[in-house]
Amino acid sequence: GRPLVVAIDGPSGSGKSSVSREVARRLHLAYLDTGAMYRALTWFCVSGGIDLTDAAAVEQAARDLVLDLSTTPQAEYVRVDGTDVTDAIREPAISSAVSAVATTLGARTELIRRQRELIEKHHRRMVVEGRDITTVVAPGAEVRMLLTASEEARLRRRGIQLGGTQNAEQLAAQVTQRDARDSTVVNFTQAADGVVTLDSSDLDFTETVDAALVIVTKVL
Ligand code: C5P
Repeated sequence: GRPLVVAIDGPSGSGKSSVSREVARRLHLAYLDTGAMYRALTWFCVSGGIDLTDAAAVEQAARDLVLDLSTTPQAEYVRVDGTDVTDAIREPAISSAVSAVATTLGARTELIRRQRELIEKHHRRMVVEGRDITTVVAPGAEVRMLLTASEEARLRRRGIQLGGTQNAEQLAAQVTQRDARDSTVVNFTQAADGVVTLDSSDLDFTETVDAALVIVTKVL
């Protein structure tokens, strides 16, 4: 078929991954979770004892990384050097270290190169989600959207109740801190020119998927 790249950016906890995956499923498109690539690189660095403040070492690790990740919405797996890290990359230790890796420009260059290669390999028929897809990785995508949600909604979806226990407050702080660190390299809080904003604060999962599909249909 003809090219249909659906680029979806947004902060953590916006429901981006589950919505993007479902959109890919409904449109019979391939699916790429670029956050999983940054997480896999972080796992590789941490498990190899690489100093995350050493930009040259992190950049080299990005080039050395032997990564195999699912590109279909039906399966979720991430492997580094043949080791299944699907669950390991979601651990809090990785979530708190990932921004240090993602703010290393040389590492970004290498992962962006791989992301573009994967898009081509799938004949430009893919839903690609992350932070810089609409602006850097695939600015020429047929569909570009920014999926946002209020901070309250994003924390609620992560099961975090503001004004709750101390643990909940700590989790909330971790999420907002990660977004703050991430936004030092990529602006994913404001839609770039030509990017459609989808605010999911008051929508449930199904409503958000439907709204995203309407946005896609409009450009077809
Ligand atoms: O989407 P997810 O929360 O899994 O992304 C993990 C991290 O990867 C983000 O916090 C960010 O540091 C980084 N990331 C990025 N650019 C992307 C996708 C993710 O910098 N396109």
